[in-house]
Order: sequence, then C-alpha cells, then structure tokens
Amino acid sequence: MTSPTTAPGLEGVIAGSTRLSRVNGLAGELIIAGYALEEIAANASFEETTFLLWNDHLPNAAQLADFQSRLAGLRTLPAATLDLLRAVAAEKTPPMDALRMAAGTLSLNSVEGAENEAAALVARFPTVVAAYWRLLNRAEPVPPDPQLGHAANYLYMLNGQRPTSAQTRGVETYLNTVIDHSFNASTFTARVITSTASDLVSAITGAVGALKGPLHGGAPGPALDMVFEIGQTERAESYLRAKLERGERLMGFGHRVYKVRDPRADVLSAAAEVMYRAGGDLQLYDLARAVEQIAVALLTEYKPGRNLQTNVEFYTALLLHGLGLETALFTPTFAVGRVAGWTAHCLEQRAEGRLIRPSSDYHGGLGRVWADVTARGG
Ligand code: COA
Repeated sequence: MTSPTTAPGLEGVIAGSTRLSRVNGLAGELIIAGYALEEIAANASFEETTFLLWNDHLPNAAQLADFQSRLAGLRTLPAATLDLLRAVAAEKTPPMDALRMAAGTLSLNSVEGAENEAAALVARFPTVVAAYWRLLNRAEPVPPDPQLGHAANYLYMLNGQRPTSAQTRGVETYLNTVIDHSFNASTFTARVITSTASDLVSAITGAVGALKGPLHGGAPGPALDMVFEIGQTERAESYLRAKLERGERLMGFGHRVYKVRDPRADVLSAAAEVMYRAGGDLQLYDLARAVEQIAVALLTEYKPGRNLQTNVEFYTALLLHGLGLETALFTPTFAVGRVAGWTAHCLEQRAEGRLIRPSSDYHGGLGRVWADVTARGG
C-alpha cells in the first residue's frame, strides 16, 4: 500500500528553498538569482554569473577583475590528477567517467575552506575536461592561458587555438544557460551530500555521477545522433514515428518540470542560429528546426496531455556541434557550466545546515523467521 504522501521521483515535492534559481514550468520561465535567463545568458561572462550565484549580486569592475584572476590562478591541475587522466585515457575511458574519477582528486593542492574548494572546482573542471579530451586523442594537454577568460580558455585548452569572439560568446552563452536549474537531480545529489557536513569535492563528484545519466545530462549526444540519422526533412516523420511506435523516447524532448517549451531551448537556439549563420552548416540547423517541429507534433499525437516539448538538450547539441565540439564532449561541457551552480548550492546548503533525510514507504515482507543456511530451500 502506498501512503498518500509518497511521491515517486519526488515529483511536485518542495524539498527545500533556494535563492539561486527559480524554474516556472508552466510559464516556461527560468530566473537566475533574480535575473531572467534571457538577461544573463547572452550578456554575462561566465565569471560574472558564477560571482552572482555565490554572492547574490553582480560584481563591480574591481570585484570582477579580482574574481577573474582568482579563478585563472587556480586552473592548473594537481600532478596526480594529470597522471590519473593519462592512465584512464590509455583505457579509452568515456570522458564523463574520467571527469568523475578526476573530480575526486581535486581536493589535492587546494586551500582549505568551502569557498576555496568551490573556486578550485570551478576553475579546474574545464582543465580536466580539455586535458582528458586531448589525451584521449593522443595529444598533449594545452596548459591554461591566464590571459584568457574562463570560457575562451576552455576552447583554447581543447583546440590549442585562441577562439574567435563569436565562438567565445557561443560557449559563454551555453555555460550561462546551464549554470543552474533549481533542484535538478545532480544539484540535489550535491545538496544531499553536503547536508551530511561532507566536503564540496565529495558533493561535486556525486553530482557528476548523477549528471552522467541519459535522463539528465546525457541526452544531447543521442539528440544530435538522431538528427544525423534522419539526414533529410522528408525522412523525419517516418523515422520519429517508428521510434515512438517502438515505445522509445525522443532525446531532447520532455521535462519533469517544464510543461511548455524550455526557455533554455530558446536562448540556445538563438545562439546556435547566430553561429550557423556566421558560416556554419546552415542545412543542419534548418534540418534540426524541422525535426524539432515534427517531433513536438508527434509527441502530442502519441502522448496526448503530456505536454512534451523541446528541452535544453536538443539545442545544446546543435550549439556545441556548431562550436566544433564532438558529441562525447557535450555532457562534460554541461558539467563545466553546472559545476558553478552545484558549488553555489553546496555553499547555500552548508549555511542551512539541515541534514536531508526523507522517509520511505516499506513494501517488503514482514514476520519472516530466521532459518539456518542448511535449512533454506532454493
Ligand atoms: N519521448 C517519448 N515519450 C516521452 C518522452 C520523450 N522524450 N518523455 C516522456 N515521455 C512519455 C513517457 O514515456 C510517459 O508516457 P506514458 O505515460 O505513456 O508511460 C509520459 O511521457 C510521461 O513521462 P514521464 O516518464 O512521467 O516523464 P518524467 O517527468 O519522468 O521524465 C524526462 C522527464 C526528461 C526524463 C523524459 O521526458 C525523458 O526521458 N526525455 C528524454 C531524455 C531527455 O531529453 N533528457 C534531458 C532532460 S533536460
């Protein structure tokens, strides 16, 4: 018997309060520390948005310069982290697994204190992802360039070339867009771990594990694969219909909270359009738009009343592909943005100090009587 207070998946349950972000799933609205996502995404640098989350106000010019150089000074990885990355690259470990393993080492060489741990994590995540990507592709890591901002330096460490300002803006818009999203699964994981009075590195390592799953941050790769497999607009309907007939999910659609179009999809589709119009594969962009429209129409037909709309992952895939990132880098790049939100939630949770420990509804057996191993049946 399920008690009336049980909520599978904690759906609809308000599990705590936060000043960091507000998701209004019916209005399709995302507020980041008081600002509508649309205000922040295309204007702020990643450092400004991170500062905003940690301090609840935007930095002035001096604070920003200070914060930028603080993060830039923390980008270099501990030697043991690099050794680990080399070893796991030799095993061809998938990048999200490598990030999870490396995340656990990031307490090395970092100054004690939650704020310092947070800064080291945010500063080092791009270095881990970029260094690992290069090692996986038999290239030496590119050391961080302290003259470059956080977003530009990420692209630089991946490619070994200084990005254009349009590319930097593209990745910065992406990182800002995914930086925080209230009590999503990975953030909640980080908060649960923090609530035990554990450290930030443990919390963030757990969050990486939660983000990796295809129902959370693992969707953009398959979403792009789907567009590539479709190849031409004329094939979209039969392809998507066949998937739905087989009971499969369309990656990049549906959301636990948004019952209208995810506002992040709008921000990212606008950023992707700018990128593709400035010399990208416009045919791919147009194909993706057509696939999106057909997918939403078919989801309405197959799942009436479920309000399954485009989510953040669909245009993440298109934007990051336009920036030259390979599919396997999509979820790690999501983590490069979200780690700032995770750390902000950890700091907020620490200040709150209340252990998160819900109850459960037991539905196992009762009254069983111990039997010796020799007396047990099959
Ligand atoms: N494609 C096809 N059907 C979908 C779907 C999708 N993308 N998303 C949900 N559905 C269906 C479910 O199968 C279910 O159908 P049913 O009632 O006939 O069983 C119904 O819609 C409700 O789904 P539910 O599982 O309750 O939604 P949820 O809130 O648990 O799931 C997601 C939310 C995100 C996990 C889900 O929409 C999904 O799997 N999307 C694809 C993966 C993805 O893009 N993830 C990134 C999220 S940002």
